[in-house]
Amino acid sequence: MEVYEALRTRRTVRQFKPDPVPDEALNKVLQAARWAPSSRNEQPWRLVVVRDREKLRAIGETARTGGFIADAPVAVALVMDHADQPRMDGGRALQQMELMAWSEGMGTCFVTLPPDQESRIKELLDIPPDLDLVTVLPFGYRPDDFRSRGVPRKPLAEMVHFERFGNRAPSRV
Ligand SMILES: Cc1cc2nc3c(=O)[nH]c(=O)nc-3n(C[C@H](O)[C@H](O)[C@H](O)COP(=O)(O)O)c2cc1C
Repeated sequence: MEVYEALRTRRTVRQFKPDPVPDEALNKVLQAARWAPSSRNEQPWRLVVVRDREKLRAIGETARTGGFIADAPVAVALVMDHADQPRMDGGRALQQMELMAWSEGMGTCFVTLPPDQESRIKELLDIPPDLDLVTVLPFGYRPDDFRSRGVPRKPLAEMVHFERFGNRAPSRV
């Protein structure tokens, strides 16, 4: 069980090697989403796999903070039907895919899609209007020297309160 190692080392990756992602590796990532927990086990996820270069380019041009999608060998659009707890369920499936991809030597980057960008990408992928497009998650093998913006974390002492909010007694964890 090396979950902690994957959790600790995972970084957001915005550069990808051009190598294709084999079906077996992609399947593991999709399975990771499938096994995510969801409220009332609704399993409200729909996953649109995109490998078509033109579509990836068009998505990268549309997603203002996700231009790198254009350079990814594959991306998965996370589409949700009406979930009891859409944010929780969506986040869980995404995190599982990101960790699975990381453990396979790949990298991913969660991309924020404001409503105008979301609707354009929905049209591009023929996603029905009544479903929500949460994000498009690009995948690819990570270069050894990929640039990470995200390593620093606040110390636990800034996040954790003991027994009551505001009690910052020294942590034993
Ligand atoms: C909800 C959410 C939205 C994000 N949106 C974007 C985005 O639009 N573009 C981007 O480059 N990174 C995006 N990120 C990646 C974060 O910037 C990154 O996870 C954070 O800086 C921590 O870095 P790390 O994942 O390498 O530890 C997003 C992450 C989350 C969780």
